[in-house]
Amino acid sequence: CGIIARIGADDGVDRLLGGLERLEYRGYDSAGIAVENGAGLAVQKCSGRVDDLKESVDDSGVYGGIGIGHTRWSTHGPPTDDNAHPHTGATGEVAVVHNGVVENHAELRAELEAAGHEFTSDTDTEVIPHLFERHLADNDPETAFREAVRDLDGSYAIAAMVEGEDAVFAARQGSPLVLGVDDEEYFLASDVPAFLEHTDEVIYFEDDEVGVVRPGDVELSTLDGDPVERSSEVVSWDPEETGKGGYDHYMRKEIETQHVSLANGIKGRVGPDGREPDLDDFPPGAFEGVERVQFVACGTSFHAAKYGTQLLNKAGVAAQAFRASEYDDAIPVDRETLVVAVTQSGETADTLAALDRATKAGARTVAVTNVMGSSAAREADDALFIRAGPEIGVAATKTFSSQVVSLSLLAHRVSADAADESPWDDPAAFYDALERLPDHVERVLGREDAAGVADDYLGSDAFFFIGRGLAYPVAIEGALKFKEITYEHAEGFAAGELKHGPLALVTPRTPVFTVVTGDDDETTVTNAREAQTRGAPIVAVSPPDHTVTDAADAHLPIPDTHPDIAGLLANVQLQLLSYHTADRLGRAIDKPRNLAKSVTVE
Ligand code: G6P
Repeated sequence: CGIIARIGADDGVDRLLGGLERLEYRGYDSAGIAVENGAGLAVQKCSGRVDDLKESVDDSGVYGGIGIGHTRWSTHGPPTDDNAHPHTGATGEVAVVHNGVVENHAELRAELEAAGHEFTSDTDTEVIPHLFERHLADNDPETAFREAVRDLDGSYAIAAMVEGEDAVFAARQGSPLVLGVDDEEYFLASDVPAFLEHTDEVIYFEDDEVGVVRPGDVELSTLDGDPVERSSEVVSWDPEETGKGGYDHYMRKEIETQHVSLANGIKGRVGPDGREPDLDDFPPGAFEGVERVQFVACGTSFHAAKYGTQLLNKAGVAAQAFRASEYDDAIPVDRETLVVAVTQSGETADTLAALDRATKAGARTVAVTNVMGSSAAREADDALFIRAGPEIGVAATKTFSSQVVSLSLLAHRVSADAADESPWDDPAAFYDALERLPDHVERVLGREDAAGVADDYLGSDAFFFIGRGLAYPVAIEGALKFKEITYEHAEGFAAGELKHGPLALVTPRTPVFTVVTGDDDETTVTNAREAQTRGAPIVAVSPPDHTVTDAADAHLPIPDTHPDIAGLLANVQLQLLSYHTADRLGRAIDKPRNLAKSVTVE
C-alpha cells in the first residue's frame, strides 16, 4: 500500500491525487483521500484505481489544504469501497491511512466492539481511528494519537487527521515513511517519487517516531515524546526519471533505457587496472574473514541473488540464496557469514525480516538496493546501491540487470578478499565485457525478433523456460516476468530437471525457451532436444552461432560476450518477449492484476 499526506495553506487535492498516482505501483485495488476544508473532514474513497477516485473527487468538488490519501494492496478484506482507506471511527471525527499490518487487530476490535464501537470494514486498519477517538475523549489530539499508536502491535506507517485540527499526525514502525519539505508545504509519503515533482528535500522517519506536521511547522519526536532533531537531505533522483518519457508503458521505458542505467551502475566501479572492482565502501580487504555468503531476497531480486550465488561459487566462495520468507531460525548463521539482502525497493517486509534475523545472529550484513534511505539500506551494516534510477513498472526489469551487475562486482570483491586463491583466471576479460555491456544491451534493444516470436507463440498452452548454471536464474526470471504481465502459464526449470517431471507437460503447444550463455551448455541443448522430440517448439536464446540454433525452431540472438555476463543479454530478450506478448493480449502491463511492486507485509 502507499500513503501520502499534504500539508499546506492552499488547496492540495490535486497534489494528493498526483501523489497517489505515483504511488499506485505499491497497490491499486482501491484508493481514497480525506481533506480538512474548515467544515469538517471530507472523505472520498472507492474500490478500483486512482483514476476512479479522481472521477468521484471531481464530481464531489472536495477541496482542502491538509489531507491524507491511500492506495491499497489488500491484505485484510477484499477490495471494496468500505475496505478502502481512509478509515474513520464511529463519530467521523478522525480519518486514518495506514500501510502495514496491525497484528493485534482482532483483540483490539473485540475490545472496542464490546465498548460499543461499530465497525464498517474488514480491515485491520479500522481499529486505529476507533482507538484514536477513544483516547481523544480525555486527551489533546497529539497525546491521543500517541496513545492510539502505543496500543498497536505490528508494522505501520500511519497518517491521521482530526476534525478541526490543522495538522497531520504520523507514526512509523517497520513500514516506510518519509517527509518532503518544501517552502510552502510539506508531504508525508511511503516513498519519495510521490512528491518528487514538488520537492527533493526529505527527512526519513525512523521506527518508533511520531511527527506532527502543520502548515509551516514540523515536530518530530520519539513515541515516548522525546524531541528528535534531524536535518533534511536532498535525494539525487531527477523528477523527469519518474515520467513515462514518451513510451506507452513505464515497463517499456525501463527496458529500453537499461543501457543507461547499467552504464550508471558500472561508472567508476572498475579499478584503474581494469582487473578488479572499485567500490567506495568496500575497499580491498573489506571482506576478509568471510567464510560464506547467504543471500536473502524475494521475487526478481531472488533471481538476481541466485545469479550472484553462482558467481561466488564459481569464485571459490561458499554461497547460497534463500527466499527471504524461508530464511528461518533453522538456517545456521554466524559471525563469519556475510548476509546480503537484495531488494530493489529496500522495503520488502520478508527481506527486512530476514535481514533482522541475520543481524540478531551476529552476521555481517550488506543491502544491495536501489533506494537510498530505504529501510534495508539503513538497517544493514553497509549498502551497495545499484543506481538504476526509479523503477515504476510493477514488474522489475532494469533493476534486475543493475542488481546482477552490482552483485558481480561484489562477488569479485568478496572472492578477492575471502577465497583462498583468485579463481577468475582472466578478470580483465570480465571487466572488459562489463564495460561493453551497455553497448551490447543497446544492440539487443535495437532488434525486433522478440516481437515476432511473441506473435508466433501467442495462444500457446504454456511457456517453459530452461537453463543451467548462470542461465538458470535467467530462465526462472524469464518465466516470472512472463507470468506476471501476460497472466499466461509460464514456468522456469533447471534444464536438467525437465526430464525429471516437467516433460510430462510438454506438447506441440508449449514452447520451450532455451537459454544458453556459454558455459557448460551443450547438455542444455540435449535437454532442449528431449523436449523437441516430444513435439515442443524450441526457441533458442543464445549467441548467434551457438549449436543450439541448429536445433531451434526460432531464435532470440544475443551478442557474444563473457559467459559471466551473457545471461543479462538473454534476459533483455526475454523481457521484450514478455512485454510484446502482454501488449498483444492487452494486459495492464505496468500494473498487473493482484500484484504490487513493493510488498511491505510479510
Ligand atoms: C514484489 C514485486 C516483485 C519484486 C519483489 C521483491 O513481489 O512484485 O517484482 O521482485 O516484490 O521486491 P524488492 O523491492 O525487494 O526487490
